[in-house]
Amino acid sequence: MIRLAIQKSGRLSEDSLNLIRECGISFLSSSYKLKTEATNFPLEILFLRDDDIPGYVQDGVADLGIVGQNVLVEAGFPDLEVEKLGFSKCRLSLAILRSEAYNSVADLQGKNIATSYPQILGRYLAGEGVQANLHTISGSVEIAPSIGLADAICDIVSSGSTLLGNGLREVETVFRSEAVLIANQQLTAEKQELLEQLQFRMQSVRRARR
Ligand code: PRP
Ligand code: ZN
Ligand code: MG
Repeated sequence: MIRLAIQKSGRLSEDSLNLIRECGISFLSSSYKLKTEATNFPLEILFLRDDDIPGYVQDGVADLGIVGQNVLVEAGFPDLEVEKLGFSKCRLSLAILRSEAYNSVADLQGKNIATSYPQILGRYLAGEGVQANLHTISGSVEIAPSIGLADAICDIVSSGSTLLGNGLREVETVFRSEAVLIANQQLTAEKQELLEQLQFRMQSVRRARR
């Protein structure tokens, strides 16, 4: 039996479940049950907060996970990635109020930036030679400039509706992301074999979709 962690609710949930089903794996799911077993493959599925998934896989609490590269890299475990999945594509971007002038990233020098991604953003700014004050908040980051909490934000952009709805404009792309399959690095031979079977099926699903 191999244990796979997926997002309980959010941008990746629906597509993660669809991928597992398209791999020919059947299971019952209800939104209240946080753990389920497949009926025709030795797989157990855990439904977790996406931010917790990299740590659980690193520690071996879960063997596998489906998570965005944004969350994986921010958690500091990029080496767990074993397969790109091609869905939930998005970017991590810097944005400012639409009314503000902007020429280059140097304009952010000394500014207050709200983000849920201090690690990725910190590295990016250091690479650009910009020093800014990062304020880490875990959600609704896009509200920060309009309530005077920050001069700029750095958060995930997918369709762009959240930026638009909050009077913000995207000024720099910091990181590009998609959903990936991750795996613990000390799987038993038996689990390694199950992982390979899953990867084979996922690759076939992606080929069939094209
Ligand atoms: C991201 C981000 C915005 C939204 C942007 O959240 O924080 O809320 O997506 O999408 P849009 O450009 O299509 O409007 P995410 O789904 O990653 O959830 P989380 O931050 O709560 O984990
Ligand atoms: Zn999240
Ligand atoms: Mg969000």
